[in-house]
Amino acid sequence: MRKICIALSKGGVAKSSTAVSVSHGIALSGKKVLLIDTDDQGQDAFLLGVKPKYGLADVLNERVSVEQALFQAREGLWVLSGGRGLSGVKRAIGRKDFSSEQALSESLYSIEGRFDFVIVDTSPSWDTLTINALFYCLEVLTPVSLEVLTLNSLVEFAERLKSVQKFNKKLQHTYLLPTFWDRRVKKSSEVLEQLKKYYSEQICEPVKYSVRISEAAGFGKTIYEYAPSSSGAKDYQKTVERILNYGR
Ligand SMILES: Nc1ncnc2c1ncn2[C@@H]1O[C@H](COP(=O)(O)OP(=O)(O)OP(=O)(O)O)[C@@H](O)[C@H]1O
Ligand SMILES: [Mg+2]
Repeated sequence: MRKICIALSKGGVAKSSTAVSVSHGIALSGKKVLLIDTDDQGQDAFLLGVKPKYGLADVLNERVSVEQALFQAREGLWVLSGGRGLSGVKRAIGRKDFSSEQALSESLYSIEGRFDFVIVDTSPSWDTLTINALFYCLEVLTPVSLEVLTLNSLVEFAERLKSVQKFNKKLQHTYLLPTFWDRRVKKSSEVLEQLKKYYSEQICEPVKYSVRISEAAGFGKTIYEYAPSSSGAKDYQKTVERILNYGR
């Protein structure tokens, strides 16, 4: 079971758009996928146009079992939704005396091996649940919007990630996905060149700025449903193939 955390401690870099597009893309290839939203904004269910009765907060609170909270959003795609309830959960986890970073892993133990892929979306902050997600996952995919300020966040995030990797030794920073690429903007291409230079192994083909991606969000459809022939769908399909071909 591959477990991929979508993370960067910066807002609006397309973490949730990437988590949803990649999850659905992998599911469309015939794999069984679970998307877990650890953000209290709870955007993933919204992006998929679904309203699950229970979510991750109920599982972490031990109100319901994981099985009860799993919601099938599409063929081959299940979601464990985020949302406001997670704020209280984060405080409760923070108060635990020991292994507070393992709370998520422990609560998901019963579904180990049930999916081909688990994709975990995270909040823009380095909070308890982001750390828990990094202890649960084996790979990290970082979306990087092509702006200078995001590069600073990336450097800081990579440092923090190293501190987690000391404990979760299997965790690899496998992918860096440039987002909001606009070739008409000089800075956008300059930042892309820098990323290619420093992260030559992790760098994926960039996802271009595409108004279709933000439009799809308003309809509760994924980019493959809303605009299958758009650049957004094609770009995310390349990311999906890159992930599926890992190690080949
Ligand atoms: N390639 C793109 N082109 C144009 N708009 C995009 C693209 N990717 C994402 N967006 C839009 O940018 C906004 C931010 O995206 P998203 O919510 O995925 O980012 P995020 O990193 O999850 O944000 P947060 O840190 O708040 O969780 C959304 O309105 C989304 O629809
Ligand atoms: Mg998000």
